[in-house]
Amino acid sequence: MITKPKGTVDITGTDAKIWKYVEEVIDSVMEKYNYTYIRTPIFESTELFHRGIGNTTDIVTKETYDFIDRGDRKMTLRPEGTAGVVRSFIENKMYGNSDLPVKVYYNGTMYRYERPQAGRNRELSQYGVEVLGSDDPFIDAEVISLALNINSMLGLKGNKVHINSLGDQESRDNYRRALTEYLKPHIDELCEDCKARFEKNPLRILDCKVDAENAILKEAPKTIDYLNEESKKRFDTVCEYLDLLQVEYVIDPKIVRGLDYYDHTVFEIHADIPGFGNANVLGGGGRYNKLVEQLGGPSTPCVGFASGLDRLVMAIKESKIDLPIRDHLDAYIMYVNEEEKKYAIYLSQELRMAGFVVDTDYGNKSLKAQFKQADRMKSTYYILLNSEDLKEGLITIRNSKTKEEDKIMMEYMIYYFDEHLIDQEIEEDSCECGHHEEGECHCHKHHE
Ligand code: HAM
Repeated sequence: MITKPKGTVDITGTDAKIWKYVEEVIDSVMEKYNYTYIRTPIFESTELFHRGIGNTTDIVTKETYDFIDRGDRKMTLRPEGTAGVVRSFIENKMYGNSDLPVKVYYNGTMYRYERPQAGRNRELSQYGVEVLGSDDPFIDAEVISLALNINSMLGLKGNKVHINSLGDQESRDNYRRALTEYLKPHIDELCEDCKARFEKNPLRILDCKVDAENAILKEAPKTIDYLNEESKKRFDTVCEYLDLLQVEYVIDPKIVRGLDYYDHTVFEIHADIPGFGNANVLGGGGRYNKLVEQLGGPSTPCVGFASGLDRLVMAIKESKIDLPIRDHLDAYIMYVNEEEKKYAIYLSQELRMAGFVVDTDYGNKSLKAQFKQADRMKSTYYILLNSEDLKEGLITIRNSKTKEEDKIMMEYMIYYFDEHLIDQEIEEDSCECGHHEEGECHCHKHHE
């Protein structure tokens, strides 16, 4: 038997419905914030990630899926979405848009050769946003609240934003000097990778997975203490705007992020689910004002974040959130002979085109087996076809719960379901997303 590669998943059944639902919520919230969808290639030239994410990051040194294509070009499966979006921004000269900033979002698979565990896959899905062309702290705050709002729309309560600032170039240089001084006498106590990082990029030592619990790192200088006046003021403004947006956050000086392109604001969204460990980090991002220039474009301030869909779905399931996922049919059409089957073919088409969710038998099952299947599919109605009635244009519709039955003329079938199913929906729930009181729900898609 050929099995799936380590660190990948098959998403099927109810899980697949949860994924689709999460993606729908993301699309509908993005529309409200006026972000446009962008699709960039799943593989890009290796150099893009080396220059974009940083040569000394774990992602680039240990986790990329690199390959040489048949034309001898070095290619890499994207480990994240930001570098590709920035490449596209430059290549398509989006910096010339009269409507800067460019606000885009994506949703797709990324590849990281990590040790697989719950919430950590080698093929992972991220949705993310990138805002290119604005340095306004307002957009830092908005991007953070957007990430949180999506989580709360999904019913994930109590997520916390951990926020920090790395500051501008001057602040970062000051910090790097302080960190180097601090680490110098302790270098022998760190892992081999950290010794190499010390020479090339000491900031990367702070997100070392091996030394994560090392007291030396816990007591290391904090970026926030090395911000110059301007960077500090900027960070305070981001916090002020977060307050205005009623976002709850904690200032967490430990956050430096595992990618090299960040400056100023950095943040992570944390859930608090026991047993989740690192998978509690549902998303992260920050400002990257130098990346466009580094990749050959004009100086363009940017900010963004990405969230792991695998982790969001895990958190939804763990929190036992009741999502408005359709798990039932409107009607199941039953028949036993060839003549009735032809009507089943015709009527199923009519009903589906009118917007109803309908299934029928495809394997000449007995009537008893068809009832069982209809019940497994949680059909609200059975449509019972019988040759005698069909001659007179009649069909029988039975409510599967109350067993009430009506024999109606076939041509009134759509009106019948319009009336009966809509009445039932109004009775069932005022808010299909299930997370809001009447009138408070913003997931309009589910109310249309
Ligand atoms: P990141 O922190 O590397 O940032 O990834 C963002 C999120 O992707 C994580 O918080 C996590 O939820 C999910 N994730 C990462 N690795 C895995 C994995 N192996 N398995 C499952 N989920 C995972 C970035 O990727 C940046 N591009 C974010 C960004 C956008 N910054 C600015 N713009």
